[in-house]
Amino acid sequence: MNIYLDNAATTPLDPAVFEAITPYLLNHYGNPSAQHAYGRHTRNAVEDSRATIAQLLNALPEEIIFTSGGTEADNMAIISAVTNAKADHVITTPFEHPAVLQTIRSLAQTRRIAISYLRHDTHGNLDPDHLHYLLRTNMRNLVSVMHGNNETGNLHDIEQIGRLTKHFGALFHSDAVQTMGHYSYDLSKLPVQFLAASAHKFHGPKGIGFLYARKGTQVSRLIHGGGQEKGLRSGTENIAGIVGLAKALEIAYQELERDRKYIQSLKTRLIARLTETLPGTKFNGNSADAEKSLYTVLSVNLPDGRPRLLQLLDEQGIAVSGASACSGGSFSHVLSALGVDAGSTAIRFSFSKYNTPAEIDRAAETLTALCHLVAA
Ligand SMILES: Cc1ncc(COP(=O)(O)O)c(C=O)c1O
Repeated sequence: MNIYLDNAATTPLDPAVFEAITPYLLNHYGNPSAQHAYGRHTRNAVEDSRATIAQLLNALPEEIIFTSGGTEADNMAIISAVTNAKADHVITTPFEHPAVLQTIRSLAQTRRIAISYLRHDTHGNLDPDHLHYLLRTNMRNLVSVMHGNNETGNLHDIEQIGRLTKHFGALFHSDAVQTMGHYSYDLSKLPVQFLAASAHKFHGPKGIGFLYARKGTQVSRLIHGGGQEKGLRSGTENIAGIVGLAKALEIAYQELERDRKYIQSLKTRLIARLTETLPGTKFNGNSADAEKSLYTVLSVNLPDGRPRLLQLLDEQGIAVSGASACSGGSFSHVLSALGVDAGSTAIRFSFSKYNTPAEIDRAAETLTALCHLVAA
């Protein structure tokens, strides 16, 4: 029996999403820009999907721009803030995904922008006083702070950050790739200019996501061409992807509370099992704190270096991710920013509605057995 516990990397497609998108792969293949019935059909599908997403998030349809995923949406948000809104100071965290960090660093090579990283404690809690201090600088500030971290599961209070950012007239972008479809949003109230999301993290297809850009916020086009997405993102639309994204989000929000409780119970179960069978186990960041971390992610820290553990788990049919502070050439910028001991072993378990308590028990038993086998 294979057990998939790597849902922060990507989730399996929901069969109902598969059903919704197949007609757009087989029958409805018209180009949405075409002036005939085939084109009208797919244009309607794209616009209906946009309207569905906007309604679920309490946004306006024109605030949703389809992209190839979270990476492109993050790039678009940050590049827009720096090139259009002329932000010259980016305030971010060392915990961001490379889609954010690398975009900022690459802009810093060609433009005069300063980068500040928010101070934090050893659990990864951000220091609001430092943000306050940085926002008082006499610069055009962009704040980019993710909602939920993909490695530790740490949640950041984007409501509070947004309020402070708005108070100082700065721009706010939040990478919501790990939270979209798992937490509800009222974007008419949340003080953000930009939000990035990706369908494959909530049982939608890969290669499709969106940028939310608040009405009135200028957006840069990264891809030039035929003028799709109101000229902001050229290229023939990924219709099946767009339909699948809307369907996946719809399902996610219909079942949000039920799924959240169920998935949280799996996470709590794994914490209990590992604490019992593997003394010395710790959890990175706020991962074990139900209030302060994603219910879908558990980042486990084992006291000693066990370099082959992931491979052995894989051989036992258990798919998880490794996030070691420093091992075998791989280097987690998130864990090293938290000061996690480079000699320890970090394993990320990430859950979905398709996992079962029996899988959790087997994963815990296998990990415990392997830890004894490959004692440090
Ligand atoms: C926090 C975060 N941001 C951005 C991305 C990139 O999203 P995509 O794979 O859709 O490009 C990921 C994917 O792992 C992520 O976890």
